[in-house]
Amino acid sequence: MADVIEVSKLTKLYGDILAFDHISLSVREGETFGFLGHNGAGKTTTIRILTGLNRPTEGHARVLVYDIGSEIATAKRHIGVVPELSNLYDELSVMDNLSIEYIASF
Ligand SMILES: Nc1ncnc2c1ncn2[C@@H]1O[C@H](COP(=O)(O)OP(=O)(O)OP(=O)(O)O)[C@@H](O)[C@H]1O
Ligand SMILES: [Mg+2]
Repeated sequence: MADVIEVSKLTKLYGDILAFDHISLSVREGETFGFLGHNGAGKTTTIRILTGLNRPTEGHARVLVYDIGSEIATAKRHIGVVPELSNLYDELSVMDNLSIEYIASF
């Protein structure tokens, strides 16, 4: 099976704060991947980078065939994220929530 997510030597600095330093990982098609670490290890920042909500300081990452640096808009069309906190609208139906999330991702 091919790698569908590939992270290579990714580093993120928030000013002087080193969020993480040269992490590399790969996820294969169909694989369930657990991304674990202590508080502040950089899990959320990594996911934010892979979903285009943040930029790495160094390194590269790819989602499917799309480079998250140069092709993030296209990559986002293939990414679904369920965040730690719910961002659903209680007053909308499931279908309406899905439609809004779909539109918002573009
Ligand atoms: N916007 C930010 N500005 C400055 N520092 C940040 C910012 N976001 C995260 N950090 C720092 O980067 C490091 C990694 O944080 P991150 O939230 O990615 O870790 P995490 O693994 O998701 O932690 P947790 O398990 O608590 O959710 C921490 O030292 C954190 O304080
Ligand atoms: Mg987190």
